[in-house]
Amino acid sequence: METSRLDRSGVFVAGVRSDDISPEPLQISGLPATATVRVLSSSSAGASSSIVEAPKGWTAGSGAFTTLTEIFVLDGDLLVDGRFLERYHYVRCPAGAFLQTFETGNDGARFLLFTNAPVAYSTDYRSEEFLSFVALDDVSWKPATTPMVPPGLLTKRLAEDPDTGARTWVIGLVHWGGDISRWESHPCDEEVFFLEGEMSNGEVFPSGPVMIDYKAGGYFYRPAGIAHSGPGSGTTSYALALCRSSSTLTVDWFDHPPPFPKDLEAWDFGRG
Ligand SMILES: [Fe+2]
Repeated sequence: METSRLDRSGVFVAGVRSDDISPEPLQISGLPATATVRVLSSSSAGASSSIVEAPKGWTAGSGAFTTLTEIFVLDGDLLVDGRFLERYHYVRCPAGAFLQTFETGNDGARFLLFTNAPVAYSTDYRSEEFLSFVALDDVSWKPATTPMVPPGLLTKRLAEDPDTGARTWVIGLVHWGGDISRWESHPCDEEVFFLEGEMSNGEVFPSGPVMIDYKAGGYFYRPAGIAHSGPGSGTTSYALALCRSSSTLTVDWFDHPPPFPKDLEAWDFGRG
């Protein structure tokens, strides 16, 4: 099974190891196809989360994304609207926000690319919206504000949509989670890409609770309403991960794992 064949609006895409995904030529109208893409997850409505690898000399020129697009650099460097983005730099590109430049630097670049709808890169589409840039090192860690989350979960906010409450943020955990006793779920989708370290996540699957291990390059897209992060979840070393929610993230807590939602499916790539 390839991740790109699953519709994440109805399937929990779990246990993904991004190195196992076959790269394909990038197919975004207006962007050079010399870049490759590994699709982490996608929906039949055209949303997608992927890793793009663009070689040195990859140049898209000026233009704008036709839908909200988020970029987070993993390696190399990327010149976006005249700014050099390096490892763990982020840019949020609202629909129509104009980029004077969009190209790789001397090392090429590998970056996460998130869109919530079908996207193109176009010189004809322009709005009054602005790009917003964040370098992870420039943001200070803050304790998670979610009530009842075990202490020690630190976060750095990258973006929050004023209309939907959809959020993009980074979590940092050091030796965390040993005392978890409950399960949580959210009324929004939640996706996580693991940047560094390792972590185990207790998840409710159709067959019942399972434990899924993640390392750097690991990924999941979990639709709303699936209970997770139950007892046994956490890290005995550390983990750094990029997270996104599809709308405002609130938490429902459960003393026992509730059943898996009837209208969804699940696929654990970690088990082949
Ligand atoms: Fe969660």
